Amino acid sequence: MKAVIPAAGLGTRFLPVTKAQPKEMLPVYDKPTIQYVVEEAVASGINDILIVTGKGKRSIEDHFDKSFELEYFLKRNGKNEFLREVEAISELADIYYVRQKEQKGLGDAIYCAKKHVDGEDAFAVLLGDTITTSKVPCIRQLIDIYKEYGASAIAVEEVPREKVERYGVIKPKPLKKNLYIAEDLVEKPPVEEAPSNLAIIGRYVLESEIFDHIRDTPPGVGGEIQLTDAMRSLNRLYGYLFKGKTYDIGNKVDWLKTSIEFALKDENIRGELMDYIKRLLKEEWNDNK
Ligand code: UTP
Repeated sequence: MKAVIPAAGLGTRFLPVTKAQPKEMLPVYDKPTIQYVVEEAVASGINDILIVTGKGKRSIEDHFDKSFELEYFLKRNGKNEFLREVEAISELADIYYVRQKEQKGLGDAIYCAKKHVDGEDAFAVLLGDTITTSKVPCIRQLIDIYKEYGASAIAVEEVPREKVERYGVIKPKPLKKNLYIAEDLVEKPPVEEAPSNLAIIGRYVLESEIFDHIRDTPPGVGGEIQLTDAMRSLNRLYGYLFKGKTYDIGNKVDWLKTSIEFALKDENIRGELMDYIKRLLKEEWNDNK
């Protein structure tokens, strides 16, 4: 199965950081966000990845490209560990690029992949600004659902009721443990109109008929062509309560939390970082006394 990673958005929630650099390249501890996303696809058995980019996103291509100068330098200076790491990035997968000319929304970004996935029954979509962690990679879990049930599948997670208006939300009909038929979907519903608190997290396996539905979808919330609206026209759609954790890097506070959480996983700096956080908290506590 091929994967599509939309990464062409303007990242307005993260301005001014994203004025001249892609939010998908923001580091989460020691790797850019989009590298985690590509690694999830690769760990799921996907080797053909199309990244949808746009103006100002060249650093994404550079990151996954071979860097002869850097590799030569590292080799000459005996920095073999870094050399292996840098080489591995450009060998992760076959990565292709297409540019979304205007930022008309996620649905439109996916439509840019039509030619690349032509002839495939289905393809995977992983948002370039969302990281997931789990034993079995999230997109692998969805591919398995698609293979078993033969229809499009999206990952959902329970979010606090008051936060549903930030997400696309499904109207779930329970099928079995953790699996629902999505009878309907709404993008960013007001709390009182939300059909559930099961939010779409940014991982999808979509049948190729989605392209016809996107083409027929008028602009929705925010004047954007919404993938959620196009998915309403799919014959059948499964919502899968994904086993794992989701990190949305597209807003400042969640990016910060994720960076700290990922950094704390590194034994080499964990102790020092913990001491620092404790000291900060103590200072804060004393200042507020
Ligand atoms: P978001 O809605 O989170 O991204 O889309 P955004 O529009 O860049 O963010 P804000 O709201 O302005 O802060 C989720 C993913 O879809 C991509 C984004 O790059 C992100 O990875 N996207 C979004 C596109 O590729 N094209 C679009 O037109 C919109």
